[in-house]
Order: sequence, then structure tokens, then C-alpha cells
Amino acid sequence: MADAFDPQHAERLGDPARLEALPRSAVVSLLRLDGAETVVDYGAGTGVYTIGVAQAVPGGRVVAVEALPRLAQMLREKITPDLAGRLEVVETDANAVPLADGAADRVVMVDVLHHLYDQPGALDEVVRLLRPGGLFVVLDWGDRERPVGPPLDHVLGLAAVRGIITEMGLEEVEAHEPGTDLPYHLALVASKR
Ligand SMILES: C[S@@+](CC[C@H](N)C(=O)[O-])C[C@H]1O[C@@H](n2cnc3c(N)ncnc32)[C@H](O)[C@@H]1O
Repeated sequence: MADAFDPQHAERLGDPARLEALPRSAVVSLLRLDGAETVVDYGAGTGVYTIGVAQAVPGGRVVAVEALPRLAQMLREKITPDLAGRLEVVETDANAVPLADGAADRVVMVDVLHHLYDQPGALDEVVRLLRPGGLFVVLDWGDRERPVGPPLDHVLGLAAVRGIITEMGLEEVEAHEPGTDLPYHLALVASKR
């Protein structure tokens, strides 16, 4: 099952090489935003991608869900006054996000699915949060040889992610193997029926 993320690796999340391989713009683009959405960043970590998403929804809202207190605090410290009104950090490992059923237009997980605590509980929460037609966007390390990232036997690969999406009752909208749009990451966008 998933390996828990080691909070001692928190600084690595902001490594410029990581951001080059997985740019914020790629995450924002997959979210297909018009700027007014409610987005849940599930497993937001230190907020490396959360901040970019919040900047992309000037008329919307971002709820950043993070289980590890140290990482959640590092994320809070990144929130500039212009983002404070639309970016909220929810620190929880209980998979209970304080939003109503169907309140989220988007849920995004960046490098989270293979680290997810209580995967069934978390994925049930994602389905609960999404509105019909809302999108679940998954970016994660691919299961192909690469010079960086977790070992291949610690990641999921696109076939496994597709299986998870099907189990969740979601419908695939687009999928990208690593080495196509992004060098090391797979991406999958799925819609709630
Ligand atoms: C590799 S980090 C990625 C962080 C961030 N998404 C990024 O790309 O920079 C994975 C994060 O997911 C969080 N996480 C995993 N399962 C979680 C859960 N069920 N609820 C909240 N956070 C979770 C971990 O604590 C960790 O911070």
C-alpha cells in the first residue's frame, strides 16, 4: 500500500528541478479553469502547486487539504494577502473536508495518489466533494525508468490509476503517459457523472 510522505523531505517539494519537470502551468492547464471554481488541492503539501492554482481562480476558492502539520504550516506561510481571502488550509488526516457534498468543481492530487493515507476513505471523500460534471485531476510519477522520483515499485502507473478512477465511478476525460507532455509524470483527468 502507499508509503507515507516523510515530512523531512518537505523542502524537496520546492526543488526547482521538480518544478521544471512538473510546472505549475501544467497543473493549472489540466484543471481547465475559468477562474471562478472551487478547487480542492488534496494532499497539498507545502503548497508548491496550491499557490499557482489559487492565482488562477481570482473569483473562486481553493481548499488545501494536508495531513502533516509541518507541511500545512509551510503552506500557510506562503499565503500572500492577495490570496488570503480565497485560500484556506484544512489540516486533517481524517479525510473529512469541511465542504458540502458537491461543493467542489475540481479536486486535484499532485504526487499524492501513491502516498495517500487511507486511500478508500480519501477517494470516497473526493467523490463526495465533486459536483456532477466536476473534474478529478491526478498527476503522479509514472512507472517508467527515470533519473528522479520514487522507485518504480512505489508508484502506480497509468493502468493502476485508471483502475482507481473506474472504481470511483468516474469517467476518464483525458490521460497522458509520462514522456509525452510531462517527462516523468502521468496525468489523468476524470469527470463525475
Ligand atoms: C509528495 S507530497 C505532495 C505535496 C503536493 N501535492 C506537491 O505536489 O507539492 C504528498 C502529500 O500528500 C499528503 N497526504 C497524503 N494522504 C493524505 C490524506 N489522506 N489527507 C491529507 N493529506 C494527505 C501528505 O501528507 C503529503 O504532504
